Amino acid sequence: MSSQLPNRITSPPWWQLLNWIADPIGFQEKYSQKYGDIFTMRLSGLGSFVVIGNPQVIGAIFSQDSHFDVGRANKLAEPLVGRNSLMLLDGARHRRERKLLMPPFHGERLQTYALAICSITEQVASQWQVNQPFVARTAMQQISLEVILQIVFGLSEGERYRQLKPLLTEWLDMTDSPLRSSMLFLRFLQQDWGAWTPWSQMKRRQRHVHELLQAEIEERRNNLDEGRTDVLSLMMAVRDENGQAIGDEELRDELLTILFAGHETTATTLAWAFYQIHQQPDVREKLLQELDSLGENSSPMKIAELPYLTAVCQETLRMYPVIPVLFPRITKSPVKLGGHLFEKETTLMPSIYLVHYREDLYPNAQQFKPERFLERQYSPNEYFPFGGGSRRCLGYALAQLEMKLVLATVLSKYQLALAEDKPVKLQRRGFTLAPTGGVRIVMTGTKQKSVVLQKVVG
Ligand code: HEM
Repeated sequence: MSSQLPNRITSPPWWQLLNWIADPIGFQEKYSQKYGDIFTMRLSGLGSFVVIGNPQVIGAIFSQDSHFDVGRANKLAEPLVGRNSLMLLDGARHRRERKLLMPPFHGERLQTYALAICSITEQVASQWQVNQPFVARTAMQQISLEVILQIVFGLSEGERYRQLKPLLTEWLDMTDSPLRSSMLFLRFLQQDWGAWTPWSQMKRRQRHVHELLQAEIEERRNNLDEGRTDVLSLMMAVRDENGQAIGDEELRDELLTILFAGHETTATTLAWAFYQIHQQPDVREKLLQELDSLGENSSPMKIAELPYLTAVCQETLRMYPVIPVLFPRITKSPVKLGGHLFEKETTLMPSIYLVHYREDLYPNAQQFKPERFLERQYSPNEYFPFGGGSRRCLGYALAQLEMKLVLATVLSKYQLALAEDKPVKLQRRGFTLAPTGGVRIVMTGTKQKSVVLQKVVG
């Protein structure tokens, strides 16, 4: 068994870094064709990463969580989410924080958010004009940002809300292209070289967001309202086994983590879903039939159980991983995986993209085919749009519920079509991948009645 890093890419590390930033999908395609499902890239200034597209090895990584550190491998995200972010924690502190943050995003709590999601969607969609194209990703981001602000931050009105909303969007839009994203990867760009340089603008916006969030937290502490059900209030109320509450700086960093991890990802995936649904008339037809068949007293949770709608969301998440690779896993001691011995301090990067496009698992992987999820069950190491093991996405249940409710609310009331007849490609947006141009859509008309919403709200 060799302890050498497997299949090392030989081009210069700076060249690999530029290619990784510019096109992480093309990069993975190229080298997986050359080396197979495990290869090592070396990114200038960041180190070596073993990219893994082998389901068995990934399954072993998920099941041996305690052998890896993840938080310290996520350092690149620190300028955005802060050092206390769940994403940057490891070991006991990560376990403690996750335990505190889990309940508001799972189980019955989710049901209480469903109506808010439907009415936010309805509010955003009601602004669309017939025959006026709009960018699906932007519209979906309006919805998902509002969802986070309302159900997580508990903000839907007032001066702070009015300031925070555009500020957050501007802040996130600062990394909306591969070039602008490069400041997250290239440390030499992370310098304050004067007020108009991108990094100092980024930091200025960050300071402003921090001030607003701190003010909100202080106001809540001073005016305790036990009736509030937003996630921030729940987070402020929880205590760990030693009776400890979450501190202000930690609360702020977790709010930003949820904002960053939760709203762009969901918006982008929804934009892809609209793209595919309107590119494939048979998919759209089947979906509309299923929505029309809902019984009189359908609840949002009933909508969430619809099999074809679920399959459409699953297939979208398969084909368009918003994050091309999972969080890196650093070995804490030597680990044997798939015939390789990885020494201590080796960084492994399970690739969602490589596994989700394996022809042996997903025949005609380039085709959008929701039926594959009705015909076959995939195991957690064959299909993992939300990652796995102890780092599995905190918001996976909320994200899926939101996707289904937004699609059902929009499709049951509005007739939409793609505004452009050209294929849409993936493009880097910060740490995520998004559709180039955001998918332009046009509303061609409304239906007589809103099938889903009338049933949901009525
Ligand atoms: C379609 C939408 C989403 C996708 C595709 C997605 C995907 C992911 C992935 C791939 C990871 C890394 C998991 C790993 O490395 O094993 C992750 C982590 C995370 N996600 Fe999501 N996510 C989505 C929505 C959300 C939402 C709505 C929230 C919050 C409410 C959220 C919060 C988080 C957090 C906090 C982590 C870090 C977990 C940890 O380090 O323990 N995500 N997500």
